[in-house]
Amino acid sequence: MKIPDLSTDYLGLQLKNPIIVGSSGLTDSVEKIIKLEKMGAAAVVLKSLFEEEIILEMDEKIHSMTNRHFVFPESMDYMEAVDEPNILADYLELITECKKAVEIPVIASINCVSSQKWTFFAREIEKAGADALELNLFFLPSDNQRGEKEVIDATLEIISKVKLTVRIPIALKISAFQTNLIKYCEYIDQSGVEGLVLFNRSWLPDIDINQLVISSGFVLSSPAALGNTLRWVSMLSGRMNCNVAASTGVHDGAGLIKQILAGAHVCQIVSTLYVNDLVQIQKMIEELTRWMTTHEFGSISEFRGRLSQSNSGNPAAWERVQFMKHFRNFV
Ligand SMILES: Cc1cc2nc3c(=O)[nH]c(=O)nc-3n(C[C@H](O)[C@H](O)[C@H](O)COP(=O)(O)O)c2cc1C
Repeated sequence: MKIPDLSTDYLGLQLKNPIIVGSSGLTDSVEKIIKLEKMGAAAVVLKSLFEEEIILEMDEKIHSMTNRHFVFPESMDYMEAVDEPNILADYLELITECKKAVEIPVIASINCVSSQKWTFFAREIEKAGADALELNLFFLPSDNQRGEKEVIDATLEIISKVKLTVRIPIALKISAFQTNLIKYCEYIDQSGVEGLVLFNRSWLPDIDINQLVISSGFVLSSPAALGNTLRWVSMLSGRMNCNVAASTGVHDGAGLIKQILAGAHVCQIVSTLYVNDLVQIQKMIEELTRWMTTHEFGSISEFRGRLSQSNSGNPAAWERVQFMKHFRNFV
């Protein structure tokens, strides 16, 4: 049999396979990204810029200028015209250098909580040559000032401001903690974004019982985290016009195959590369190729979404009824 074709498309970009290295410390330098390309990654999402960092630096610069009495503090346009904060300039240089050094698509990433001052920077990202932009939205689920409507409104406002600013494709990376995730994703989909990334990973707190202080929990995911992403990918697949990227818990070739069967266009991987090293990308590609050969699939589209909620022939399998069945039988 012929070697299967692993290529897929995501955000309108042609990818040689469905493995993207997700935003993290693995994607914060040109040297690291060259290595990821050599290992077979089909695209990378750069380490995020954090809105708070950008705004803090801009505020400091404006403050130092206003101390010298020659700009109005509220004039962010002035800031845009005169100077770029160093964090931004470094980020733009990273994009430009990556685009020279690798052939795979480079997706920039901004971690944002509002549609405030940083949005002009999206245009600079586009000018620097990024192939797409991923917006990592972070709304604190414990914020009692912000109900479901406020979260939806804030999300749509961010998307519309960025969409007005750039033409490159936009993907939204969201948290699993929403009142009604399906409805929330439908709003996002209708806003015209090209991709939805499920999910971002929050920092997990822990408690040090010897020092009696709050400490950091596990930074990396485990393969056990796959199930939650799998459920939502399967439930959203077929309902969305935009592409769906699975991010969280994909640690090996089997995890990758499961997500595509559930309907994912691509998988973003991070933790497994910290645990198993970059060679894991090659191993996952080999596993996918072997599996497709065994099952006589010539291309990804032949099996993508085959076990999504709408295609599986057993939609309830993805929902709560199974929860009761399995837990009752667990004696
Ligand atoms: C060390 C580390 C740094 C990360 N930094 C970012 C970041 O800057 N921006 C972002 O959107 N996600 C970041 N993430 C989240 C990952 O992109 C990814 O969504 C998450 O780790 C789940 O995927 P995984 O199970 O393959 O690790 C980071 C994750 C790790 C482990």
